[in-house]
Amino acid sequence: MILLAVETSCDETSAAVICDGRVLSNVVSSQIKLHAEYGGVVPELATREHLRNWMPVTEAALQSAQVTAGQLDAVAATQGPGLPNALMIGFKAAQAFAFALRKPFVGVNHHEAHLYSPWISGNPPVADFASFQPNVSLIVSGGHTMLVHVRAELEHVVLGSTLDDAAGECFDKVAKLIGLPYPGGPEMDRLSVEGNPAAYDFPRPLLRETNDDFSYAGLKTSVRYFLQKNPTLLDDAQKLRDLCASVQAAIVETLVTKTIRASRRLGVKCVTASGGVTCNRSLRAELDKACQREGFTLRLADRSLCTDNAAMIGVLAERKLLKSTSATLLDAEIEPGWALG
Ligand code: KG4
Ligand code: ZN
Repeated sequence: MILLAVETSCDETSAAVICDGRVLSNVVSSQIKLHAEYGGVVPELATREHLRNWMPVTEAALQSAQVTAGQLDAVAATQGPGLPNALMIGFKAAQAFAFALRKPFVGVNHHEAHLYSPWISGNPPVADFASFQPNVSLIVSGGHTMLVHVRAELEHVVLGSTLDDAAGECFDKVAKLIGLPYPGGPEMDRLSVEGNPAAYDFPRPLLRETNDDFSYAGLKTSVRYFLQKNPTLLDDAQKLRDLCASVQAAIVETLVTKTIRASRRLGVKCVTASGGVTCNRSLRAELDKACQREGFTLRLADRSLCTDNAAMIGVLAERKLLKSTSATLLDAEIEPGWALG
């Protein structure tokens, strides 16, 4: 089966061609630079950029896969959740594509697709469903932080999510407080490498709670108060690095501890993680250490597939069609608030 997938839920315009679990192409046009001067994603600008980019990105994905539109067996797109107008561009364009080709269309839940990105690896990437195991999956991005129990392929239960800010949002907001450019996560990661994670003691929100929820708004606020009390701290480059490392340590500890605790409780032997924050070096290293200690298999999404991409949308859509999930209607609407069931 040859399938074209499109993703436009936030600030990445992406198209991918999937053939029998292999990612033949995955073109991503990121809008990070466009939104940087505003310190966050501006929905109206994102929509216009998707409008401009959808066609060239799709063309590039088909060309790089050496596939013509006539060879496609199906078309898929992100149906939700996401920014309404941004979603609309890719979803309606993909539906029109399927309509013109008289091929089935699949609308995909963006978060469900993240659950499968850790299973795409290699070069060219192949979806490794042969070694698929029941797992606890951490999805951690700028918009979302959630833990999901994936009991079997296409069968999952959401265990918990953030009660307020997402982990990536916390990285970005703290970075803004200390004057780092947007998006702040990668900058804090870079500065933390030479910082002391034990220099300052920041709260680990909900760490002692037995639920699987997260909360990061309080951590950001405590950094603000800390800076008010220590107004000259940022003048010292080493203290700035120590601050970054200490905040990062608080975020990483809560993510790792809660993921491992849920995995133990549910008796799964495999942990997976995806989403932009999964690029973070300390998170990758600490998850690795914890999983080795517990004897768990760890599947981290490849760095190139941590952030939003159409490859994960296409791989999931193909599995859905193969498992005879019925196609999505061509007049179906976007679902901007589509919560993972
Ligand atoms: O998944 P993503 O590209 O977009 C959505 O939010 O959906 O994730 C972007 C988030 C941003 O908050 C960014 O700061 C964070 O991921 N991020 C990182 C790193 N790379 C990206 N956070 C910490 N360390 C990183 N290396
Ligand atoms: Zn995402």
